[in-house]
Amino acid sequence: MNFGTIGAGTVAQAVAGHLVTAGHKVTLSNSRGPDTLLDVVTRLGPLASAGTADEAAAADMVFLTVMWPQVGDALAGLPEWDGRILVDTTNAFADLEVETASEFVAERAPGARVVKAFNTLYAQYIAADPRHTEGRQLLFYAGDDEAAKADFHTVADGIGFAPVDAGSLRDGGRLMQIGGPLSALHALRQD
Ligand SMILES: NC(=O)c1ccc[n+]([C@@H]2O[C@H](COP(=O)([O-])OP(=O)(O)OC[C@H]3O[C@@H](n4cnc5c(N)ncnc54)[C@H](OP(=O)(O)O)[C@@H]3O)[C@@H](O)[C@H]2O)c1
Repeated sequence: MNFGTIGAGTVAQAVAGHLVTAGHKVTLSNSRGPDTLLDVVTRLGPLASAGTADEAAAADMVFLTVMWPQVGDALAGLPEWDGRILVDTTNAFADLEVETASEFVAERAPGARVVKAFNTLYAQYIAADPRHTEGRQLLFYAGDDEAAKADFHTVADGIGFAPVDAGSLRDGGRLMQIGGPLSALHALRQD
């Protein structure tokens, strides 16, 4: 499985760091073009590359890592999703037009199998080695497609997190989004 990021800032680089450490290829993208990401991908190492948003979105699993006001622009005009997995890491610091932020994202990525994840953690806990002395970092995720969630679970487990299925996009998403009880919850699983 290969990986892409739409957005290449703090969260994208933290997730990409874990993925390349685990031996995965990651294509990072932003709105300004691959040339602006050369330093970032050099620091991440040879498994990381800079691409266009279209190239990043062609990956098997794509992480949406833009700020909330940029979600619409970032998803507009991408190639057909054809069932590829879109992991929504965003937090909606806004009044929502729909029930949950991830449903808003899913509506703008038709054909993507959307999994919500990473948004509950501060960036420092995403970037850190999730295998803490006291236990593995819990990583909540939500989604409506069981196979996509199983793939995400395998990836998250493989990079060291303790993944926890929080349910559907609506119910789990509501727990995980800003104002929900899982938002900003930093917790460890004692293995
Ligand atoms: N930081 C945290 O602690 C944290 C934790 C969990 C979740 N989150 C959520 O994760 C998301 C990303 O946060 P972040 O801290 O990583 O933000 P960030 O560092 O500001 O990175 C945002 C990235 O999006 C890119 N971007 C902007 N517009 C774009 C577009 N139209 N298409 C493609 N890329 C675009 C930006 O690059 P260019 O401007 O160069 O295009 C930048 O690389 C946010 O929704 C945030 O709420 C953040």
